[in-house]
Parts: sequence; C-alpha cells; structure tokens
Amino acid sequence: MKINGVSYRSVWLDSDGWSVNIFDQTKLPWQVEVIRLTGWEQAAHAIRSMQVRGAPLIGAVAAYGVALAMREDPAKLDEILEALNETRPTAINLRWALDRQRARLHNLPLEARAAEAYAEAAAIADDDAETCRRIGENGLPLLAAIAEKKGRVNVLTHCNAGWLATVDWGTALSPIYQAHDAGIDVRVWVDETRPRNQGAALTAFELGAHGVKHTVIADNAGGHYMQHGEVDIVIVGTDRVTRTGDVANKIGTYLKALAAKDNGVPFWVALPHSTLDMRVRDGVAEIPIEERSDAEVTDMTGRTADGRIETVRVVSAGSPAANPAFDVTPARLVTGLITERGRCAATEQALLELYPEKG
Ligand code: MRU
Repeated sequence: MKINGVSYRSVWLDSDGWSVNIFDQTKLPWQVEVIRLTGWEQAAHAIRSMQVRGAPLIGAVAAYGVALAMREDPAKLDEILEALNETRPTAINLRWALDRQRARLHNLPLEARAAEAYAEAAAIADDDAETCRRIGENGLPLLAAIAEKKGRVNVLTHCNAGWLATVDWGTALSPIYQAHDAGIDVRVWVDETRPRNQGAALTAFELGAHGVKHTVIADNAGGHYMQHGEVDIVIVGTDRVTRTGDVANKIGTYLKALAAKDNGVPFWVALPHSTLDMRVRDGVAEIPIEERSDAEVTDMTGRTADGRIETVRVVSAGSPAANPAFDVTPARLVTGLITERGRCAATEQALLELYPEKG
C-alpha cells in the first residue's frame, strides 16, 4: 500500500540482501521512521515493544528474526524459536510462523539454515500479502451489496487491521480499500482504540494516506451510531480464531459485537488461515490474554502544537490501572468470517468445510 504515492510493505528485506526493514509504528502517525533490524534480539524487541504489531505482521517479523539468528548462529535454532515465541502471547500467527521455520530448518545441516530461513520468511511474507488481497476480494461483495441499496456504505472498525498490521492490504481494511478502489462510496468509523490508540494513530493514518473517507470516534461512541442507523456493517480483524469460531481481538471488540447484535448490525471478522487455532475450542477459557503495562492506560502520547512528541499522565496520581490487551467475542455474536478462501459462518462445521486439511 502507499504512503505519499510510494508503495510499501510493512516489512521488507533491505537492499543489502540480509537486514530487515520495518516502520516504527510507535512513532506513527507523527513520524514515518524506518528501523533496520540487524539481529534477532532487535526483531524480538520490535515485537515486544510494538514497533511492529498486528497478528500477521508479528508472524512475518518473527520469521525474519529467525533468519537473522541463523546468520549469527544456526546451532541456536530451538533457543531462538522459544525466545521469539515468548514476545507476545495472544496472536497465534506468531507460533504459526515459528512452526513453519522449525519445520523447514530443523533437519538441515547448520550451514544450510540461513539461506533456507530467509527463503521461508520471504514465502511467509508473500503468502500474507496475497492472502490479505484475497480477503479483500471476498469481503468486497458485502460492502458492494449495501452500497447498491443505499448509495454508500458506513463501516465501523476497531483497532488497526490494515496493511500496517499485516504485510500488505490488511484484513478488515482490505475489503474497504478494494471497495474504495472500485468507486464505492465507503466511509469508515474508526474506533480510537484506547489504550494504545491503534485506530486513531494507525487506521486513520492508513485510510487517510489512501484517500478513504473516515471519522475517528471515541471507543464508546459506536453503540450510539449503531442505534441511529449510522453503521451498516462492522468489520474487525483478529489475533486468534478458535475451532468453534470464537474470536480474540483488541480489547473492546466484544462490546462492539454486543452493540451490533442489539442493533441488528452485521458483525464480520476478517482473518487469514494463519490466525486459525484449531487446537482451541473455547476462546474465553483457553486463549491467553496479554496483560500490558498500566502506563498504557495512565499515560497518553501525542504531538504538541509546536511539533514535539510528548507523553502525559491522564489518570490521577496513585490510582492503579489494569490493561488486558485483548478480549474474546463468542462465535454466537459473529455474523460471519471473511477468509482468503471465501466467507463462512463462525462455526466448527463451516470452518472445516473451508479448511478441511486443518481437521
Ligand atoms: O496489540 P496489537 O496492535 O498487535 O493488536 C492488533 C489487533 O488486535 C488487530 O485487530 C489484529 O491483530 C488483527 S490484524 C490484521
């Protein structure tokens, strides 16, 4: 996707052929800064500190982290896989990407590992970009059908499930980009997504860069707009979908699903195959929910009028804060899933029909 007319992916190999470039997403939207990763610890830090975030992108950067590690010391494969897997717990794409690296590398002689690890990381990145493009194709008819009736379509989305969260295109935003490019009048309500503001900072940045009409709203405003007929459809991304169709996503997604159900607004979830975790049945009971620093709740970062990036405290001194980063939306609240293979119900049977090899 494009920034100022130039096409980028969210992770790419440097022209030196071995180091790996990412955008520092903690600096967006104020500064577009590229970080050059030269070692696996730097890749692990980028994931942990959320310089890169979003389930599919975490997986791709971890895969490149393995490649960087194999250049340094190919004997340390198991150790590095374990360390990278511990960087963030909720998105299953991380383990999926590391499992692919493990499968490709573990039987190889040490001297062959680095080249193969780079090839696998590139395959994972290319697969994600193409998968997300197809998710867009499969979600587009939902938006086109609403626009056909109403002349336009109002979508609400939560967090950032755009190209910055994947390698390219995004998941929830891919149908929106494709609808926009097809000339459909699509407008997006962007939940700010406290505490880290991925909606206000990243989704708004992306949509603006692509020329898609959008309005940032406080997280609590979505229900109000649904009651007043201002939301035609909700589309969100996800960090893990269980065998039974339960959906883990950014904290606050569950409340949006409840409001959507109460107001008869369709609630769709967009996901690539790498986000499916068929070993888990009950999302609420079984998906590990990342607990992040209370400082993300007590403090906010923004740009001052004279251009400085500053962090200020917004909570009274001494008040404790809690910060679960994700929640689980039970399958019963999900209208359907948009995947690279098509759309389906959020049920075990429908998922197995679409992905029989995962049975
Ligand atoms: O904590 P984050 O920013 O990594 O959370 C991201 C999300 O919750 C996204 O909605 C999800 O990863 C889907 S990304 C296509």
